[in-house]
Amino acid sequence: MTDMKPTENYTENNYGKVPRITNDKYRAFLTNYQVPAIKKHCGDLTGKVFLDIGAGDIVLGEKLNEIGVPKKFYVQDLSKPSILSGLKRLDASGVDISNIVGFVSTNFDFNVIEDGEVDYAFSNSLFSHLTINSITLCLHNLSPKMPIGAKYFSSMIVLPTDEDTYAYDWSYLKKLGTQLASYSIKDPYHYTANTIKNLQQFNTGFKMKHIHDYGHPFQKLVEFERC
Ligand SMILES: C[S@@+](CC[C@H](N)C(=O)[O-])C[C@H]1O[C@@H](n2cnc3c(N)ncnc32)[C@H](O)[C@@H]1O
Repeated sequence: MTDMKPTENYTENNYGKVPRITNDKYRAFLTNYQVPAIKKHCGDLTGKVFLDIGAGDIVLGEKLNEIGVPKKFYVQDLSKPSILSGLKRLDASGVDISNIVGFVSTNFDFNVIEDGEVDYAFSNSLFSHLTINSITLCLHNLSPKMPIGAKYFSSMIVLPTDEDTYAYDWSYLKKLGTQLASYSIKDPYHYTANTIKNLQQFNTGFKMKHIHDYGHPFQKLVEFERC
């Protein structure tokens, strides 16, 4: 499992301290499920404005020919070294990065984006590291940047029943990446489907439309619609 970690010192909950910088093998693992999901739910992104929130070192950068080259590809993270490392890697490997706009914020400040500009937003394994307060802040700040009806697909750890539990051990799935537990009060965070459905009560500007199966070892892909 060690070689599936982006770097030796990185763990999935020490953001802001150790940058998330992936290797080729880990990127292949990640994009192997992210790309089909984006193609399935967003269709062809050619000419669209696409936002990846919590993009890390931009693992989707080498896959733009598969998902469609967006007119503008916004990539946001709290880790500046991760974003810079991704841009550097892509540039060095000959990817045209002229349409990629990287930006950094710790409080989901999306001011760099024009109102109503984003056609599709996406996050892989961002909300699994966020409290409800942070999730609602993200949705609330994102909402003016997307037109009514636009979709944000964000992966989350969704408990299999509506019974919340302090710790949930995913190892019974016996898949690569499932040798861990998620928690109600610490990172990585899990939520019930009912909690996710009710997030709209916090005036986030989004309603939860659907919880999709996803290629991630144990996360689901939650479809939020701008309302
Ligand atoms: C599990 S990684 C996923 C990275 C990327 N989406 C991928 O699939 O490779 C979670 C990412 O979320 C970022 N992150 C965590 N909290 C954040 C926040 N409050 N604002 C922005 N990014 C955040 C981390 O820095 C990290 O890059």
